[in-house]
Amino acid sequence: SDSTSEKLVELAKRRGYFFQSSGAYGGVGGFYTFGPQGAALKGNVEDAWRDRFAVAEGNMEIDAPTIMPEPVFEASGHLDGFDDMLVECPECGESHRADHIVEDNTMYEDAESLEIPEVEDVIAEYELVCPSCGAGLAGQAVEDFNLMFATNIGPGDSDPGYLRPETAQGIFVEFPRLKEYARNQLPFGVTQIGRAYRNEISPRRSIIRTREFTQAELEYFIDPEVDEPDLSSVEDVEVTLYPASEQNEEDGEAFETTIGAAVDENIITDPWVAYFLGVAKPWYEAVGVDMNRFRYRQHLAGERAHYASDCWDAESEIDGNWIEMAGFAHRGNYDLSKHAEHSGDRFTIFRQYDEPKTVERATVDPEMSYLGPEFGGDAQAVVKKLEDLAARDRSAFEGETVAFELEGETHEVPVEKTGFSVGEETISGEHITPHVVEPSFGVDRLVYTVLHHAYREDEVDGEDRTYLELEPEVAPTFVGVFPLQSDDDLEAQADAIVEDLREAGLSVTYDDSGNIGRRYRRQDEVGTPFCVTVDYETIEDEETTVTVRERDTTDQKRLPVDELAETLSAIRAG
Ligand code: GAP
Repeated sequence: SDSTSEKLVELAKRRGYFFQSSGAYGGVGGFYTFGPQGAALKGNVEDAWRDRFAVAEGNMEIDAPTIMPEPVFEASGHLDGFDDMLVECPECGESHRADHIVEDNTMYEDAESLEIPEVEDVIAEYELVCPSCGAGLAGQAVEDFNLMFATNIGPGDSDPGYLRPETAQGIFVEFPRLKEYARNQLPFGVTQIGRAYRNEISPRRSIIRTREFTQAELEYFIDPEVDEPDLSSVEDVEVTLYPASEQNEEDGEAFETTIGAAVDENIITDPWVAYFLGVAKPWYEAVGVDMNRFRYRQHLAGERAHYASDCWDAESEIDGNWIEMAGFAHRGNYDLSKHAEHSGDRFTIFRQYDEPKTVERATVDPEMSYLGPEFGGDAQAVVKKLEDLAARDRSAFEGETVAFELEGETHEVPVEKTGFSVGEETISGEHITPHVVEPSFGVDRLVYTVLHHAYREDEVDGEDRTYLELEPEVAPTFVGVFPLQSDDDLEAQADAIVEDLREAGLSVTYDDSGNIGRRYRRQDEVGTPFCVTVDYETIEDEETTVTVRERDTTDQKRLPVDELAETLSAIRAG
């Protein structure tokens, strides 16, 4: 009685869904190849995501490079803060993720939120041991380990670069250009489906935690003071929520509610996050996630990423564990303001007022050359700095002095000596840094969930059967076509049907090897919704008909060949 996961991983390899890469060289942890069925399933899931989150929402899709230069990640905070806790075994030398050891051996479900001193305490207190060799780990130092893969751009090592740990940064850094495509109007969304890389300390659970994976991300840029989502299309969506408040209670539980009620009762505090949770739930259902094994869980305060102010995860249940499939985070203006600060480029958008406003504005006297000697003769730099301050932080001019930094030193200057004056000005708007709401989906984990939730075992004619009850919309192979036996006439008719169905845009497999029962079983395991068998009735009867067998019920019906493409296409389209 293996777990479903064990049986699924075995089936995945046998039937071409996924398997560990570079097997000829012994395989390498955390890298998987999607085989013919897996690549097609993943492609179908990505297409379905694109249809819903890019096309139907009117968002723009981009495709950015996977390698980016170091300054990007200095700005984004990944260079400094994108770490996991590593503990090395003193006996066998294997490295492990400290919080995984804690999570696997104790009741600490929120081990990810532990800090280094706490994790060391827990390892000591529970006398936790190395998962590889069993040696005691108490007293071992736990270190921060940065998860980014480093590389060099061009020859030499003067231009370090990194493989992106999230597709999101490829969107943020291009904001100054993307906002032009959006005609400088908020709100707007930009999506990307692509690879992300994390040098995970302990990759595990096959494709659930890998070192190279695919994300489908939407960065939705809003003006937090002006833009409100229209919740009418999602307010009745029923969801299972597990908010932080419940997780903090001893007997707290996930509960069912609707998106509308959760917003009204302040359970989901951000309406944009609520909107995307509402959009995502029916979408997950449509691609085949079992809604009885699906919930939204809010992050606990200590668990959030360095940029997030609130976050809810979409989770699926796999063999009794809850797996994070997606995160819906409010990133505030963290990323855009960091990139503005580090690059000097404009990561703002002009917010036009309904009516012009009169404001107090500090202006700089352009003939400030007398400031020169006092500040090392660099009057230009002083003027530039003061203008910058004037544009950014008006509070600097309140009171009697102006404070600014020049060549590392802070200067305080009486306002009248700076050539500043504060006057009234009428303005039509202001530059603001947009906030970002981010639904971020892991495609591999979703593919895994879809397969796991589709896995079925039953008995047909006294024989055990395994099949995948995949939704027709995402099933990698839609129909199998078989000649009943080796016979030129049957094969010719089957070939003609294959051609016909492929022309209709359906994914078809032709199989003439083994007895018919074996061929059905093969397609059951692949999750092929229909099989068409050409038999002697087909070629002998006046009306040309074939047997169409349905995967889940194994029911068989006869259908005229003429109607096959149309009937099956309609089912595929939903
Ligand atoms: N831009 C936000 C972001 O990257 P995240 O929660 O770190 O957020 C988003 O990642 C999703 O990417 C996760 O919910 C998960 O589905 C997927 N993911 C993250 N790390 C992964 C890994 N090592 N292997 C497979 N999928 C992963």
